[in-house]
Amino acid sequence: MEKNWWKEGVVYQIYPRSFKDSTDNGIGDLAGILEKLDYLKSLGIDMIWLCPVYQSPNDDNGYDISDYRSISEEFGGDSAFEALLDGIHQREMRLIMDLVANHSSDEHHWFQEARKSRDNPYHDYYYWKAGTPDAPPNNWQSVFNGSVWEWNDATQEYYLHLYTKKQPDLNWENPKVRHEIYAIIAYWLDKGVDGFRMDVISLISKRLDFKSTPKNMAFIDVMEQHYANGPKVHSFLKEMNQEVLSNYDIVTVGEGPGVNLEHGPRYVSASEKELDMVFHFDHMSIDFGPEGKYDPIPIDWVRFKEIFRQWDATNSSNGWNSIFLGNHDFSRIVSRFGNDTQHRVASAKLFATLLMTMRGTPYIYQGDEIGMTNIEHPHIDAYNDIETRNAWVAAKNAGKNMAQFLKAVHRQSRDNARSPMQWDATPNAGFSNAKPWLTVNPNHSEINVAKAEKDTSSILHYYRKMIAFRKAHPTIVYGSFTDLDPNHPQLYTYKRENAAHRFMIVHNLGDTELQWTQENPEYIFCMGNYATLMKNKLQAWETRIYQLDIA
Ligand code: NOJ
Repeated sequence: MEKNWWKEGVVYQIYPRSFKDSTDNGIGDLAGILEKLDYLKSLGIDMIWLCPVYQSPNDDNGYDISDYRSISEEFGGDSAFEALLDGIHQREMRLIMDLVANHSSDEHHWFQEARKSRDNPYHDYYYWKAGTPDAPPNNWQSVFNGSVWEWNDATQEYYLHLYTKKQPDLNWENPKVRHEIYAIIAYWLDKGVDGFRMDVISLISKRLDFKSTPKNMAFIDVMEQHYANGPKVHSFLKEMNQEVLSNYDIVTVGEGPGVNLEHGPRYVSASEKELDMVFHFDHMSIDFGPEGKYDPIPIDWVRFKEIFRQWDATNSSNGWNSIFLGNHDFSRIVSRFGNDTQHRVASAKLFATLLMTMRGTPYIYQGDEIGMTNIEHPHIDAYNDIETRNAWVAAKNAGKNMAQFLKAVHRQSRDNARSPMQWDATPNAGFSNAKPWLTVNPNHSEINVAKAEKDTSSILHYYRKMIAFRKAHPTIVYGSFTDLDPNHPQLYTYKRENAAHRFMIVHNLGDTELQWTQENPEYIFCMGNYATLMKNKLQAWETRIYQLDIA
């Protein structure tokens, strides 16, 4: 397997709006991130992925771009970006930008033109279907609820939007569109950016017959079978790679809704020359029930392990995986997978260990390194996220029990991960001196960076040690992965090994103790999350790393 800097490094994902406000307007900004670069360096971070910072009307908080070449004034504009990029490079870290190219904002100049008339030169930058305002061309539902088709009076046509109606899908069939995107990519790479995370890149090629989806098909299947992995996605990505990406030493990670084990390798195999990694969502949708995300079910750990095992086997020889358990679109790791009350510290450390000891590049989402938890707002009005708000309206219209739905929102809303970063115990958590755009979690008086820095047994210190451990042991980066007990419902134990070294990692994925005995007393204990080890059992959410090399 080829060795690369982006396989060895650790990524930290920043949601700029919620990271650090330097101007006291309640919104995080790039100068705020610059202030915190030493903190990130001290954690051991190598690459910083910034969620979109371009000009945007913010219907979907930056995932609706109205100018791909300029940085939002709200975030400090172009000069703040240059300063941040310099600051990152001075500290020998790298910057990954978010590229949102499946759709633009409806306020982008292209769309403003496109919607004027059918013969406008920009018209076929988007997807249009003639018809009448009361009969959308098919039954497709948007990821954010409602039809994907929006009527445009001026042309007497519908346009396609897989997300909100302010996010019209770009027509990648049109070579002009593709070349616009490649030019944008080159523009940022020429400025010195080190890579891209490509938003919903699995959706850029549409099935042009736009066939209706079968009635009652689960949305997750609609995504996989009707929206994602369209017929030309791989030829588009190969072209992008050839025309622009391959001219630079960069890293690319494609967000891959609907990317499954069958399609995954096509995106990331080194021999295919498309992308370096994808984010698949098999494990991130593991708690979606029969009615989807807002119908959550308990985590099935046997299935969880199977997903990691299968993806490792699939991408091990010729590709590479991205390893993540949270981001700005999902609830907090400790609240979702662990225990955010009694065992918050232990479970956060366990998942830190898991992230750092799998084969693949680890991604840490801001705040997870201090074990930030979900936030429960008593009323829907406190939620900002368009996806949550639309889901709420849809549930109401469907006559759902809204008290119960609010509980599901508490558990699953994307705003769980978007509440401001908790830097200290002051009223706005050290995020801002003004009222933050989104409510700060009241638990910031206990859970914050300042406090964690002072406590050497904190989650934060554990992350530092765990990252350093990974970097000190190439076996943990590149060595093979073997799941030692795939069918155990609570124990997760695996080996990472190469010709030089062997490690075994043991996790107790639960609130109850587990009988477990180290098979060879000479194994060397390297790291764990409990100060005292019991001989024949693992404590709640206990994690241990052993080195098995015995002279
Ligand atoms: C995925 C992004 O991560 C999410 O935040 C966004 O809403 C959608 N793509 C649409 O761009």
